[in-house]
Amino acid sequence: MVLGAAGRVRSGWRHNGGVSDSTLPALPAVPASGRPDVAARLRDALLGASFTADGLLELLGAPAYAALARSETVPALRATRGDTPLEVLVRLFLLQQPVPPARVAAVLPVDACLESGWLVRVGADEVAATVDVRPYGGPDGEDWFIVSDLGCAVGGAGGIGSRAEGVVLGVGGASTTLAGITVRTPVPAALDLGTGSGIQALHASRHATRVTATDVNARALHITALTLALSGAPAADLREGSLFEPLRDGETYDLIVSNPPFVISPRARLTYRDGGMGGDDLCRSIVQGAGERLNEGGFAQFLANWQHVEGEDWQDRLRSWVPRGCDAWIVQREVQDVTQYAELWLRDAGDHRGDPAEYQALYDAWLDEFEARKVKAVGFGWITLRRTGAAVPSVTVEEWPHPVEQPLGETVRAHFDRLDYLRAHDDAALLEAHFRLASEIVQEQVGLPGAEDPEHVVLRQNRGMRRATKVDTVGAGFAGVCDGSLSAGRILDAIAQLVGEDPVLLRDRTPAQIRLLVEQGFLEPA
Ligand SMILES: C[S@@+](CC[C@H](N)C(=O)[O-])C[C@H]1O[C@@H](n2cnc3c(N)ncnc32)[C@H](O)[C@@H]1O
Repeated sequence: MVLGAAGRVRSGWRHNGGVSDSTLPALPAVPASGRPDVAARLRDALLGASFTADGLLELLGAPAYAALARSETVPALRATRGDTPLEVLVRLFLLQQPVPPARVAAVLPVDACLESGWLVRVGADEVAATVDVRPYGGPDGEDWFIVSDLGCAVGGAGGIGSRAEGVVLGVGGASTTLAGITVRTPVPAALDLGTGSGIQALHASRHATRVTATDVNARALHITALTLALSGAPAADLREGSLFEPLRDGETYDLIVSNPPFVISPRARLTYRDGGMGGDDLCRSIVQGAGERLNEGGFAQFLANWQHVEGEDWQDRLRSWVPRGCDAWIVQREVQDVTQYAELWLRDAGDHRGDPAEYQALYDAWLDEFEARKVKAVGFGWITLRRTGAAVPSVTVEEWPHPVEQPLGETVRAHFDRLDYLRAHDDAALLEAHFRLASEIVQEQVGLPGAEDPEHVVLRQNRGMRRATKVDTVGAGFAGVCDGSLSAGRILDAIAQLVGEDPVLLRDRTPAQIRLLVEQGFLEPA
């Protein structure tokens, strides 16, 4: 593990909205990450007891399993009153209940776990887990385990289990979103910036020869080492430090991923979410800094929040973040007004359960901060960069708040391939080209019941981004005929004859529509 300088952006870190950190219970010591032998024995024991995603579902049943994912433990407690090895493990690692050592000994190497810090003695005759260990099914059915701090495995109605500054959270919705959109092409080197529990590094270990995981929080790096070891994945190169500081001069990657501490907050309180820079500066810095850290053709993928500032186009703001030499695809998935945003993150920290006056002061401070920055709303979404030698980069910034079908990694990769294709084909070349309608596209006709003609025709994807786009009769006819056998120009000539339009004019006006249908993945070059 390379220990770097503590991040500059952490200055003023201990300010905690009037609550000094010394009032918060200290986090327990994490298990020793230098004991791969114990992690391997523990992994064998967990697998032997079917402490896996499938095993849990079978033991708990779907409602209790789903409740656990909402941080509700009562149904799972009721389902684990017995003494089977799986019940003991669920009580120990998921429900964080003390268990008599004799019962644990039937399942785990208790002495080795006590000695290396996975378990501690509590009271005279019980042992308890020091970390949360949660089964997590990999994309190819791998049995993985995510380690995190106690009570912090998942977000839920109750907020996080600890407000200690360096607390390390487990897998949340944002983690799985990023894992789902990440391009999974085999690559020599991947970087996970702000690794936390190590979930992104774990995914990257399947398709990257070398994985580097960084975090400003040393505790997160220890926990990442445990997640990888317990999941049977190769160790990563772990480096402590802020943003790109832990990287050497000229060090570059083929894939960079980050689910950063993107929350825009008036003051830095929680390392896992508050970037510690003003406004959305942390997200901007990561996006801008990634350009020079990417190899040619490499992808950088981030989740981010961005400000909607009075008098400024939010799309222009994001376009200005894209580093030189990179194509970009930025998708805004959600926008919240400043009050919804402040409430979301106050609840995340459990502030709503504390002193009402303090809650009000914190809420007020959040709105003061937004007012001072003229921020009206906050956008959330995905940013993907791809380094390219193209003279004119392509930057798409769009809003797509509708449901999508994860995983989207392949969709993201294909999006950038299509950009290359479109860049290489002017309108004349497009008319010479052959296209095929992408799979699982349907046509919907929208209009008044009983009307002879539809008001408009919509093409809809049932896969990936699940886009829908309005087309005119020519567009619909064109898409319907595209099976790769005729060139686009020949199809347009035939349509012109059918609808009695001048073929030259049709050839002139249609390439823009074809371009859009290709860009959005409705048509594929044959
Ligand atoms: C939202 S968590 C993401 C954890 C994990 N990668 C995931 O996807 O669930 C953000 C992580 O970034 C780390 N972090 C916070 N500030 C950072 C900084 N300036 N540089 C690098 N990492 C930072 C936090 O400690 C935390 O582990």
